[in-house]
Amino acid sequence: MTLAERLAEYVRAAFTGLWIQSYEHDDAIAEIARLCREQGWNLATWDIDRGLNLVGRGSEPGTAVSAGDPLAAIRALGAMANPEGTSLLVLRNYHRFTSNVEVIQALDSAIAAGRTARTFVVVLAPVVQIPVELERQFAVIEHDLPARDQIGTIARGVATEPGELPDGDGLDAVLDAAAGLTRVEAENAFSLSLVRHGRLAPEVLWDLKAQSLRKSGLLTLHRGGETFADLGGLDALKSFCTRALRPGRRSDVRARGVLLLGPPGTGKSAIAKALGHETGRPTLFLDVGSLMGSLIGQSEERTRQALRIADAMAPCVVLIDELEKALSGVGGSGDSGVSTRMFGTLLTYLSDHESDVFVVASANDISRLPAELSRAERFDAIYFLDLPGFQQREQIWSMYVRRFGLDPDQRRPESRDWTGAEIRSCCRLAALLDVPLIEAATNIVPVAVTAGESVEKLRQWAAGRCLSADRPGVYSREGNGMPRSGRSVHRGEPNAN
Ligand SMILES: Nc1ncnc2c1ncn2[C@@H]1O[C@H](COP(=O)(O)OP(=O)(O)OP(=O)(O)O)[C@@H](O)[C@H]1O
Ligand SMILES: [Mg+2]
Repeated sequence: MTLAERLAEYVRAAFTGLWIQSYEHDDAIAEIARLCREQGWNLATWDIDRGLNLVGRGSEPGTAVSAGDPLAAIRALGAMANPEGTSLLVLRNYHRFTSNVEVIQALDSAIAAGRTARTFVVVLAPVVQIPVELERQFAVIEHDLPARDQIGTIARGVATEPGELPDGDGLDAVLDAAAGLTRVEAENAFSLSLVRHGRLAPEVLWDLKAQSLRKSGLLTLHRGGETFADLGGLDALKSFCTRALRPGRRSDVRARGVLLLGPPGTGKSAIAKALGHETGRPTLFLDVGSLMGSLIGQSEERTRQALRIADAMAPCVVLIDELEKALSGVGGSGDSGVSTRMFGTLLTYLSDHESDVFVVASANDISRLPAELSRAERFDAIYFLDLPGFQQREQIWSMYVRRFGLDPDQRRPESRDWTGAEIRSCCRLAALLDVPLIEAATNIVPVAVTAGESVEKLRQWAAGRCLSADRPGVYSREGNGMPRSGRSVHRGEPNAN
């Protein structure tokens, strides 16, 4: 539904307090003005700089209010009322004034009076920040990012000369690249692309999109060339993801995502990056830590905003790294309000989202993962990424020995209980310092040693609960060739993998 359609519904149902969350005020006002014209409703807008503007009628004597007075603006709504008609007052960026007691009271009265007078208070703001006193008086409408066909219209509006607008697959690539941008951003990006290349070029759009996402601080866009072949082992997980996202799969059963558990450095983030590339989808990183760090009361809002962008960019892969950070404090003491709400937002999204967004969530501390997370319909599967077994380690060694241009015939250090990340850094160090692997290995302290206990706890928890990332079926410690006492096996003896 468009903004206008949703607004029309609320107005017909006499919701006299409306809060529109939008980053594109001019666009939103243009849409509202169109609706009001069609319906014969009166429309006035107010902002702190320009004061009151009666749209379509110029300013009328008697309704003039001084520009800088947010209270007078609300009171002017009473004057707009007329017995037959409906009147809307759009207050731009009014969230800046809603901490004031008098403003709150004036809004309260205006919204109540509006039911008989058919006057509507419409706050237009980039955030939803409704004071508690008014929470029940406002209905919230989200001004969505432009849909694909709207972006197409914008593209056609900008690229008017022959040859500027690609067709067929070329146009699809352009629209893919522009998805997730606001209308204004898309228009600017198209113009820049024309200036640089004389046509709409996806590369320019991806660059600009990456920039604008970074600026927003909500998501980062990853467009690397990693493939599954760059990761040793993890065969079961790889084949699950490729099947779930294969092209031409049934459209009525949508893949939701996977939850990856495992010690640090076992390739959880790496596989999400590679998955995007393997399936031709952009990969978006949602940084839970920085969302949590935002101002009180905004984490939830920012999370929702980030998920909306992800929806607009579908089909895509979204990596929610270190999910446990969103949970610190859930159900516990301290400032649990923020994380509980933010976590709630994530949970709802995980089970409800209709868009083709494949979520890869990673965590390495289950003691902080609440049970409701693993409820069946949130994720398609929960995988455990254990420390690699003998065969997987061999693969990873060969891979990095080759990649760092090391002598393949040299002796390899004992690497039982090493993660992929540790094998990689050993090879990197050997190349950097130009020393044999055996020597470089003396600088590696594996997590299995530094955090042995938590790795052990993780394994115990995962056994019987999670799928094994390496082999088909449920993870079990014996199945992965890890005897209970882990270290009692002779050094150098291969796992039973
Ligand atoms: N199975 C593997 N094969 C090849 N490389 C690997 C493998 N596992 C990890 N690595 C390498 O280790 C590095 C770190 O891995 P990654 O960041 O994916 O770990 P992680 O599981 O996300 O850890 P954390 O829990 O700390 O986020 C990656 O750059 C990747 O190249
Ligand atoms: Mg990671």
